[in-house]
Amino acid sequence: MTYGMIATWRMACDGIAAATKDLANGGTSQKAIVDAIKMVEDYPFYKSVGYGGLPNEVGMVELDAAFMNGDNFDIGAVAGSRGVKNPIAVAEKLSHERFNSFIVGDGVAKYAIKEGFEMQNMLTERAKKTWSNRLDEMSRSNLSPYDGHDTVGMVAVDKTGSMSCGTSSSGLFMKKEGRVGDSPLSGSGFYVDSEIGGATATGLGEDLMKGCLSYETVRLMGTGLEPQAAVHQAMTTFANQLERRKGKCGAFSLVAMNNKGEWGVATNVEFSFAVATENLEPTIYLAYPAEDGGYPTIEVASQEWLDAYQTRITAPIQ
Ligand code: GLY
Repeated sequence: MTYGMIATWRMACDGIAAATKDLANGGTSQKAIVDAIKMVEDYPFYKSVGYGGLPNEVGMVELDAAFMNGDNFDIGAVAGSRGVKNPIAVAEKLSHERFNSFIVGDGVAKYAIKEGFEMQNMLTERAKKTWSNRLDEMSRSNLSPYDGHDTVGMVAVDKTGSMSCGTSSSGLFMKKEGRVGDSPLSGSGFYVDSEIGGATATGLGEDLMKGCLSYETVRLMGTGLEPQAAVHQAMTTFANQLERRKGKCGAFSLVAMNNKGEWGVATNVEFSFAVATENLEPTIYLAYPAEDGGYPTIEVASQEWLDAYQTRITAPIQ
């Protein structure tokens, strides 16, 4: 059998590059997901995940994460996690619990400490500066406080055909205290079934959770659709419904992989994602929505784009 991983955003690529080496040597999809997402959580310059994630409106970093095992549908999730170094690792641990598998708020740190997980102040000086700059801007203009919610979501298949997926996010920048997005919600931020495939989402959680788009993508793959057709149909059908019935639709981007390592992507905004499989070196792609509603245009990210990205995310904050 083959192996592979697909993940949202450029930030995922180093993690999936390392984790797919492990998959090539017979590693499990469960370990691949946790290891790869931990790498993203630990990198201080990614401002929407883990350490360095942007805080809520009171300046506190509150993180959401989830893990799902596609063999037995075990799910673990945390929301509003404070001071836990790797929310994805806690989510994975919770997925083994028969009861109490989704924990929110203060309960996450209590559980993490009891189970021996590492604790850490998740607010970097850089994130604090970005937050205080935004407060200043908001006091001077009508700028919307809400911006940035780039969840890392990953789907993996290992050589035995076992599949897993996971998400991790600081959610909406300047969110209300206690606000929870789609990332820890099964069916919305993620879903995986080893007999079919998996999908995961990034974008505006308040809209994504209305459509359960990750579940819908997997369901459509289960009817025989290829990942690209399934994820595109799931996203565009619901985005069109929201536009028609509510008048607007937030940013939606989804990636999907089936248990043969075939993959697809759907998006209504410019979006980067990363893929690595038995037959494909870790690759960062850019997807652009098609104006005619068809499949997105997908191209390999150029060195110029990658350099500009790295310069942008590490630029000093004034
Ligand atoms: N998609 C992440 C969030 O809205 O929190």
